[in-house]
Amino acid sequence: MSNTILIGAQWGDEGKGKVIDLLAEKSDYIVRFQGGNNAGHTVDLGGNKVVLHHIPSGILHRKTVCVIGNGVVLDLGAFFEEVEMLRRRGITVRGRLFVSDRAHIIFDYHRLIDQLREECQGRGKIGTTKRGIGPCYGDKVNRLGIRLCDLMNLNVFRERLKMVLKEKNAMLKKIYRHRPFSFTAMYRTYSQYRRRIAPFVRNTSLLLDQADRKRKRILFEGAQGTLLDVDHGTYPYVTSSNASAGGAIAGTGMSPRRISDVIGVVKAYTTRVGEGPFPTIFPPDLLSHIQTRGEEFGATTGRPRRCGWFDAVVVRHSILVNGLSKIVVMKLDVLDGLPKIKICVAYRYRGKRYKHFPADLEVLEHAQPVYQELPGWQTPTHEARRWGDLPMNARRYLRQLETILKVPIALVSVGSERSQTVSIDGTLW
Ligand code: GDP
Ligand code: IMO
Ligand code: MG
Repeated sequence: MSNTILIGAQWGDEGKGKVIDLLAEKSDYIVRFQGGNNAGHTVDLGGNKVVLHHIPSGILHRKTVCVIGNGVVLDLGAFFEEVEMLRRRGITVRGRLFVSDRAHIIFDYHRLIDQLREECQGRGKIGTTKRGIGPCYGDKVNRLGIRLCDLMNLNVFRERLKMVLKEKNAMLKKIYRHRPFSFTAMYRTYSQYRRRIAPFVRNTSLLLDQADRKRKRILFEGAQGTLLDVDHGTYPYVTSSNASAGGAIAGTGMSPRRISDVIGVVKAYTTRVGEGPFPTIFPPDLLSHIQTRGEEFGATTGRPRRCGWFDAVVVRHSILVNGLSKIVVMKLDVLDGLPKIKICVAYRYRGKRYKHFPADLEVLEHAQPVYQELPGWQTPTHEARRWGDLPMNARRYLRQLETILKVPIALVSVGSERSQTVSIDGTLW
């Protein structure tokens, strides 16, 4: 058994797409288990970047089977756009991409409500991707959701859509003074989607169980990051799913007894897109330098990402809630040329020192980071392929991270391309 969960250990966009693409070479199945098309996972194929939102990043390796589990929320229009984008690149998905019959569908009213809610919140907004993620998960938990298996049975679909639209239209009219959705138009659109999605729909728990029994290697691809997890993140500035390792269990129907490893992906610094506390944010001049150098603009919405120093309080929290056995450090090259580098090891607020990530928003919003300072390196790292190729101060920085986090670093990334990778001990996968 060698089934591995790979998750983001910060606020998302750590570079999970690149790592999944690297590990896909040795995997048989790649499985998304939560989130939806709020995710944007980038794979760089020799200067040609492919961004995947719904479909697992392993799809670019032609022999892998890709699965979208029951914990994912699916926007059918976006899904087919992605299938078409892959087809234009000569990648066919038929027969090797499957979607759970229990996955919930994102409807037009979810996207609209996401947008309207954000607009009404004003300064208190979450800064969502406006893809309808929160309203869709909300309906799932409120038992007002519609799953792919419901769409497959038109009798069930008709009744559920009627019932749900009644509530949505009343809400749109009374709260947002918005015009209602037409049942007839929506029913027609989704009946067409039904024909197109049917070949992809499966009982994916069964599919994964069979794969595991045949000793296939299964890789679970987390979306977002642990600090965006609805339970373990900076609530309410989070997404609406469990982006931490636990999500892989509920979101696929795979038993925890069949998971052998959990790997965390971190950036060599920290970024965050959307609202919410960010204790280690850079001062303005360094912020714009790293934003430009690291091309820190959202892969899904194009919004600039806020950037800051590596926050070990955040990553320690991720190690704790995910049980990380090793970490992968991405984008080390972006720090090249800085005179000094800081690592946040604790927070201070009202005379108290916090070593563990606090839940209290007030503490997080006013926390003063306690930093360790190390010398930077002036030699570029993007050509490094082995540990010994890295400048001495870069190695010192990485060793210091390991000492603080008490978790080994298995791989370091020094550029977006596959080859721009330094494997530390060859034991990642
Ligand atoms: P994900 O959501 O975790 O998959 O990450 P994103 O794709 O949203 O963002 C990561 C960005 O960093 C993408 O544009 C990648 O191509 C890029 N990237 C990944 N690894 C490296 C690296 O080591 N160095 C640099 N400079 N860019 C990287
Ligand atoms: P990947 O998988 C970074 C953020 C949004 C917002 C919050 C809630 O590419 O790492 P949502 O639309 O999910 O309701 O928004 O979560 N967010 C992400 N930030 N990377 C992502 O995905 C994200 N997906 C959602 O910016 O702050
Ligand atoms: Mg991303």
